[in-house]
Amino acid sequence: MTFSFPTPTLFGAGAREELPARLAGLGVARALVVTDAGLPRTTAFALLESALAGVEKTVCADVRPNPGEADVENAFRAYREAGCDGIVAFGGGSALDVGKAARLRVKRPETTLAGFEPGLDWNGLPPLVAIPTTAGTGSEAGRSAVIILGGRKRVLFHPALLANLVILDPEFTRGLPGKLTAATGADALTHCIESFTSPVFHPLCDAVALEGAHLIAGALPRVVANGGDMEARGLMQVAALMGGIAFQKDLGAAHSLAHPLSSLCGLHHGLANALCLPFVMDFNAARKPGVYRRPGIAMGLTNPSDAETISAVRALFQEIGLPPGLRAHGVDESMLDALADQAFADERHATNPVPVTRDDLRSLYLQAL
Ligand SMILES: NC(=O)c1ccc[n+]([C@@H]2O[C@H](COP(=O)([O-])OP(=O)(O)OC[C@H]3O[C@@H](n4cnc5c(N)ncnc54)[C@H](O)[C@@H]3O)[C@@H](O)[C@H]2O)c1
Ligand SMILES: [Zn+2]
Repeated sequence: MTFSFPTPTLFGAGAREELPARLAGLGVARALVVTDAGLPRTTAFALLESALAGVEKTVCADVRPNPGEADVENAFRAYREAGCDGIVAFGGGSALDVGKAARLRVKRPETTLAGFEPGLDWNGLPPLVAIPTTAGTGSEAGRSAVIILGGRKRVLFHPALLANLVILDPEFTRGLPGKLTAATGADALTHCIESFTSPVFHPLCDAVALEGAHLIAGALPRVVANGGDMEARGLMQVAALMGGIAFQKDLGAAHSLAHPLSSLCGLHHGLANALCLPFVMDFNAARKPGVYRRPGIAMGLTNPSDAETISAVRALFQEIGLPPGLRAHGVDESMLDALADQAFADERHATNPVPVTRDDLRSLYLQAL
């Protein structure tokens, strides 16, 4: 068993100013900045540009939400055409994952992402600095890139995908709109709860997951109520990173339900988790009583029953403007079989605290409608 928490991370308002020196230290003479089409219009991007003044760079700003193979190919092509030698991935999980995965193509241009083989030698990928502008996915701290391949969310996993450096500067999330702040924060909470309750033995991750849940329960309502609460913005960034570290233990059935909602119905990943997690918690608690006691304590409850922890999660999602109901997001009964098939094929539920069948997943979707 290997325990590892290895990514150097710079945290704090103004941490971005260190970027030029850090890129030089990583031997990067020309960086490819990978981001999505929305970000160049944000104040976050203006801050990045001023931090990068004087650094040779090419910007590839066409990553789509829930990215697929074409997004990675675009970034790879831009990297090669501009003669880059390192990547700055700047954005939410979509941009970070594309920045991470493009390095696989740089290392082995003869292979495709769909044919990704973890068994090959992936050492020596181009340097990557990961700079999140949402506080949710934790992709900056993780060894995976989530890319839609063959119509399905695939988790490409390899230790070499880890970023060389993470920069958490709360100023990058100051302007994140409320709905996205809420949905990405719900993703971070889901990571902490699902990783803690995953049966894999990893007490270090368990501790990280519980503290992450603690920080989120306090900070998420604050950032949604007041996007300019920079202390809470910073706490959410750290908590999201902690969620990303914790889910080395892997996740659970909520993520298996969420992935097809993105690939088949286009839902935002964090929103999809928020709409499914409480129902998965009901399901798990009925079969493994006591499973949510410690996450509930971490969230501030005193010796809670599972039902009390689950109510606290529902109340938190309600408070931040994520009421239940897949139907309000365009999902209906006619889609449930296709969704359930994909959810069952998604490996994340293998580490759910209790086993789930394809029909269980279908009935969870039905409840979440
Ligand atoms: N690799 C992992 O470990 C991991 C974990 C969880 C989720 N994911 C993946 O990450 C993706 C979701 O990432 P996400 O939730 O961060 O959303 P996202 O990256 O898809 O971004 C959502 C929207 O937020 C906007 N945005 C981002 N930062 C902003 C800012 N500061 N100001 C204004 N707008 C901003 C973007 O332009 C975009 O329109 C999904 O593809 C999901 O599957 C990956
Ligand atoms: Zn997630």
